[in-house]
Amino acid sequence: MNVIYPGSFDPVTNGHLDIIQRCSKKFNKVIVAVLNNNSKSGFFTIEERLEFLRENTKDIENVEVDSFSGLLIDYAKMKNVNIIIKGLRAVSDYENEMQMALANNKLYPELETLFMVSNTRYSFLSSSLVRELSLFGGDVSCLVPKAVEIALKNKFKGA
Ligand code: PNS
Repeated sequence: MNVIYPGSFDPVTNGHLDIIQRCSKKFNKVIVAVLNNNSKSGFFTIEERLEFLRENTKDIENVEVDSFSGLLIDYAKMKNVNIIIKGLRAVSDYENEMQMALANNKLYPELETLFMVSNTRYSFLSSSLVRELSLFGGDVSCLVPKAVEIALKNKFKGA
């Protein structure tokens, strides 16, 4: 079975990498798909986000890193995959995730969304929290891969 793990990954965190690692042990192939939403520029460029993901998953044979634009259901059809993986950190994620899962399933009934419970070590962690901590000089070294930590420092130094 192949699955898609979609997200903004702006930037990838150790919480995302934990989900990717666990998925790679349960499924034949994990496609990590970065949303390339042209109307929203984001913090890191799509190329930077892809590079962070590729560098940090290069030792996991069955992980592919890709980007997509438009609807996730169209991307899933194009890739011939009908399972989406989402990470659930806390109850607060549930409402939004439920809405997306139901809408996606309505538009593409063969598509199932499977939720993977985040490791408790990362249940508070999000990309936006990491960006904010970095902005004010907080130490994010245990929350993101080294290259991301350095890139955040460089971005904010130049800001
Ligand atoms: O990491 P995020 O920002 O929580 O990821 C959200 C993402 C990219 C999975 C979601 O916004 C998405 O699937 N966007 C693609 C556009 C789409 O299909 N929208 C309809 C979802 S109901």
